[in-house]
Amino acid sequence: MVLGIDPETLATLQQLQHEYGDMVSMTKPNGRVAYFINDATEVRRILTRRHSKYHKGPGFERVKMLLGNGLIVSDGDVWRRSRRMIQPAFSRQNVHRLMKVMVGCCDRRALHWAELAAKGELCNITSETSDFALELILISIFSRDYEDRIMVAGNNPFAFLSRDSTRDLSVVMKVRRLRELLLGIIEDRRRGQGSREFDFLSMYLQARDKKGQPFSDAELLDELMTLIVAGFETSANTLNWVWYLIAKHPEVGEKLISEAKEHLPNVSALNPDSLAAMQYTQQVLEEALRLYPPVWLFTRRSHELDELDEFDVGPDTDIYLSPFILHRREDYWPDPERFDPDRFAPTDKAKKDRPFFPFSLGPRRCLGEYFSFLEMKVHLGLLLPRFCMRLVEEAEPELELGINLRATKDIFMKPTER
Ligand code: HEM
Repeated sequence: MVLGIDPETLATLQQLQHEYGDMVSMTKPNGRVAYFINDATEVRRILTRRHSKYHKGPGFERVKMLLGNGLIVSDGDVWRRSRRMIQPAFSRQNVHRLMKVMVGCCDRRALHWAELAAKGELCNITSETSDFALELILISIFSRDYEDRIMVAGNNPFAFLSRDSTRDLSVVMKVRRLRELLLGIIEDRRRGQGSREFDFLSMYLQARDKKGQPFSDAELLDELMTLIVAGFETSANTLNWVWYLIAKHPEVGEKLISEAKEHLPNVSALNPDSLAAMQYTQQVLEEALRLYPPVWLFTRRSHELDELDEFDVGPDTDIYLSPFILHRREDYWPDPERFDPDRFAPTDKAKKDRPFFPFSLGPRRCLGEYFSFLEMKVHLGLLLPRFCMRLVEEAEPELELGINLRATKDIFMKPTER
């Protein structure tokens, strides 16, 4: 049984589930035993209480090329130390301080979209959401150093990361150059030069482990690359799908606009409370993440015995878990292909029992969850009431299933100002 992180793997896993049920054991061509686990309780257990019995699994070797030993790929004590050092940077209070960066990034998109609308040109919403999220994470990390050091003649040297760069060996040189660029910025900051504004880099530089030690330059480089890669494609892809879904469901768009008008009548009304009050926007985002979870497949490898209800997982076994498949199961999610934000209404009591884990679960759960919800709410709350986006092609975009789930082709829309 050949399993990778690709469309064939999704088809194989769906077929296995169909034929054999929720717990499937198989032997891979290299002789290694693998389990595909599709039972919501076991998935929860593996990601939460039993997480320490597992390391990251197949597929992560490719990601290591980009991220070294950063938080997403590291395991064991190295991961534990980094997570402890980094977690405080993601406190709600800190994320709130970055809200003005989110607003600035929306303003720049609005200027561009207004120009496109005036000229009657099309908007490539896929590249727009990607540029938005990339610019936002880079300014959140580097503040002024983004303009001063990273952007060269209007070119963003990180932009190539939005393609599935882990497949392409020619990126090795580009990544090396990026790391040199980042190292220069880190060295200047350590010398007290460069931006003095509040940003993730300043927080990472202040972080100390239990022995009072800071990150080394090499560790910082891995963590910065991790933050950039983890922090922009996922949100960018989600926003891309959200614009597509709104264009397909104008009645949802109308409800979002009236909610935005109520809570964000102008930009000075934007604060953590007004964003928290945007309940329907939250539901739309969750429903989009149910249908299109950017990380559609998680892999793990056991390093000690784990006893599941139905069978034991011996050491060195590969585990596959798929939010994409669990999020579309008819028994948990009736009429699963239908886009229906009311599934996430606070009044829906059954909500808690349904498998929904686009940000993973347990100690390795995404650190950027709160940041990404704020970023997406600010984006929709400020841009949707101003721009109407009509789909140019009605056909449903095909899915590209790489490390991230995305649309195979860019989605184009016709913007008009409301
Ligand atoms: C819609 C947006 C996002 C989604 C769906 C998402 C999803 C995920 C998932 C599923 C994981 C765990 C992967 C695994 O265990 O194999 C993860 C980890 C992580 N994410 Fe996110 N993410 C999003 C946005 C962000 C943002 C905006 C940031 C940073 C600003 C971020 C930073 C991280 C980090 C640092 C980790 C590693 C955590 C650890 O291993 O301890 N993510 N994310």
